[in-house]
Amino acid sequence: MKIRTYQPGDHDAVINLWRECALVVPQNDPALDIARKLDDSPDLFFVGIIDEDIIATAMAGYDGHRGAVNYLAVSPSLQGRGLGRDMMQHVEVVLKEMGCAKINLNIRRSNLKVINFYENIGFKEDDVVTLGKRLVIDEYTM
Ligand SMILES: CC(C)(COP(=O)(O)OP(=O)(O)OC[C@H]1O[C@@H](n2cnc3c(N)ncnc32)[C@H](O)[C@@H]1OP(=O)(O)O)[C@@H](O)C(=O)NCCC(=O)NCCS
Repeated sequence: MKIRTYQPGDHDAVINLWRECALVVPQNDPALDIARKLDDSPDLFFVGIIDEDIIATAMAGYDGHRGAVNYLAVSPSLQGRGLGRDMMQHVEVVLKEMGCAKINLNIRRSNLKVINFYENIGFKEDDVVTLGKRLVIDEYTM
């Protein structure tokens, strides 16, 4: 898998991949999420390519203190072959180069599959409560 930053022509393939991976949910408009990322930090939005097809994504972030990862996805037919691990390794290298000392992740407690994946690649549960406050309501019809 070759990893590069997102390019404008990737838009539809990325959203299709997110749909296949069940990452498109009513409260998040994927096109708006892409636009916001491109406004903020396009250098941290990665796609994984095999044979010119987009088969993986990761949307990383760094606020000057902690790093974050959203929209980590590997095409369902290619899952379980180390590609998610490779994508996260790329994200970790880039964030570390920026001075990021720690990545914090939010995963639904019910999403055991993804929790197991992250524990397998070195993440550990923190004794914290995550609080959220929505500032913009996306009006997205799936
Ligand atoms: C989560 C996801 C990106 C993982 O990608 P992947 O390419 O399948 O994972 P990898 O093959 O790189 O797995 C890396 C390690 O985690 C382990 N792992 C992966 N899925 C696992 C699971 N369900 N249970 C236990 N271990 C798991 C693998 O065995 C591997 O460990 P190993 O190297 O010791 O064998 C992928 O499953 C996915 O796209 N899921 C749908 C989208 C999603 O939910 N994203 C997360 C949003 S929070």
